Parts: sequence; C-alpha cells; structure tokens
Amino acid sequence: PRKIIIDTDPGQDDAVAILLALASPDELEVLGLTAVAGNVPLRLTERNARIISELAGAVDMPVYSGCDAPLRRKLVTAEHVHGKTGLDGPQLPEPTMALRPGHAVDFLIETLRREPSGTVTLCPLGPLTNIATALQRAPDIAERVQQIVLMGGAYFEVGNITPAAEFNIFVDPEAAKIVFGSGIDLVVVPLDVTHKALTTKPRVDAFRALGTEVGRMVAEWTDFFERFDKDKYGSAGAPLHDPCVIAWLLWPDLFSGRRINVEIETGSDLTLGMTVADWWHVTDRAPNALFLGDVDAEGLFALLTERLARLPLR
Ligand code: BDR
Ligand code: CA
Repeated sequence: PRKIIIDTDPGQDDAVAILLALASPDELEVLGLTAVAGNVPLRLTERNARIISELAGAVDMPVYSGCDAPLRRKLVTAEHVHGKTGLDGPQLPEPTMALRPGHAVDFLIETLRREPSGTVTLCPLGPLTNIATALQRAPDIAERVQQIVLMGGAYFEVGNITPAAEFNIFVDPEAAKIVFGSGIDLVVVPLDVTHKALTTKPRVDAFRALGTEVGRMVAEWTDFFERFDKDKYGSAGAPLHDPCVIAWLLWPDLFSGRRINVEIETGSDLTLGMTVADWWHVTDRAPNALFLGDVDAEGLFALLTERLARLPLR
C-alpha cells in the first residue's frame, strides 16, 4: 500500500476522508494524522482526529497535534459551516486514546527522513500551516515527498470564504505559497471538483442504510453539514470536499484535470488566498500542479459507501 500522512482540521468532511482512508488498507497505509487549526481551533481538531480514529476502530493510529495558528495571520475558523465542535451533528463520545507526544511538524520531518525517499505522500485537508512549517524547518524533506494531494483553491467556482478564495488557502496563504512553490509534485482538488460531489438525499440515505455506527455518524454529519450550502446557495446538498483527496488516491480515473501553473495571492486584501490557476495556459509560467476539474460523482459515492461498510476495522 501507498504510505500517506493525513494533515487535517476535522471538520465533518475531513472525518469522512479519514474514514475512507482507514477503510482502504490494501491501497493506503495511514502513517499518522497531524492536526492543524482551521475549521475550529487546534484543541478541537486534535480531539476530533482521535474521535474519528476510534470510530474507525484504529485505536493505535498515531495522532499528533500541530500548529495552532497560521504562519503570519490570525486564525479564521468556520463554525458557521461545521458547528461549534467542528463535528456537530451526532452525539459524539469523548476520545479515550491519547495524543502522541511531540509536535506534528517534528513527526512530519522525522517520518519523511526515516522512510525511503519518494515513498510518503502527504494529504493536507486543511490550512497548509503544518506542511509549510515542516518545509521551512527542514528543506531537505521536499525532495523526499512522493506527492502532495491537497484539498484547496478554486478556479471557475471561485470562493467560499471570500469572493476570491477557498477556505483552506485563505486561512494561511503564506503557507500555501510555500507549498505551491516547493517543487513537490502537487495534485490539487479545488472547489470546482468538490462542488460536483454533493451529498444528495439518496446518497446520504445509502450511508444510513449501512446500518452501522459509522454509516449513521456519516449520515448525521453530512445532514448537519448540508444545511449551510442548502440555506446559502440553494444547493442540492453539501460538497464533500476532503474525501475527494483520498478518492483520487484510490480511484484517479474518477477525476480529470490539467497540469497547470497555480500561484497564490498573498498581497492583495481583496483577493487574498486566491489560487491564480493558469487553466488556459495563457502564461509561460511552468506547471506546478495537477489541478483537477471534474469528478464522476455517482462513482465516487458508490465507492465511498462500499468502503465505509467495512468499518470499524477489527
Ligand atoms: C475546505 O474547508 C473546510 O471547511 C473543509 O473541511 C474543506 O477542507 C473547503 O473549503
Ligand atoms: Ca478540512
């Protein structure tokens, strides 16, 4: 299996992404979860990461706590989407498993130095603070990363936190700039893709029909998460953003995209955190990312439901 580290700010959609990865041990070996501040403050995201691991039956999963604020800015959170805990919806148990001692950034650096070069993929599902801090502190790890597959940015679909920017990139644009300029092989799942992966009623009913605790939790999470997009945009359901990252690793044929240049706006207040994506190749700037544009949503949800049925692990 391919070795991955999931860097995350759970978040109901982060939770589903983590469950999908843990349900796919033949293809993916999750070396650890690194929590970062984003949707909610760090003390909640690291707690949520443990709750999700326990729900999946992965009680030995290494979970590390990381950066509690962006590199240079004040933290912006998204309780208006995810609720006060970040995982609002179902009643959740207190986690019993402990955090691993040490900082997430040290775990990232040590793991990348220890594992054979080119064998560890990073999957950031939140602001890029932990990843950028690791790259700044240990520039030698850049060439050791196999790939970064991240949820962030937007092109045609533009913003969900400002008119120009997607949340993960907006929260820590300086960190995003470091990652996009790192020379590491990048795959980017922007809002253009995730807004096609909507949790419609039949899709959520299918989670519930699994008849398991995981199925029920995922259904209740997505029910809660939906109200934001339904109320605000009249959308048919909520975009299941972060699971698309894991889905791309499992079934890349469900997606299509283009290798293009993507730069991050860090100067302008008006368009802060915008992913300036050269989709039409109108500049001679070298491509630095595979920027996805489309997904087969039916296929995605069918496979997601099939995988979630395998949880909890025994
Ligand atoms: C991203 O922001 C968060 O609210 C979600 O978890 C996702 O990672 C979507 O913009
Ligand atoms: Ca997230």
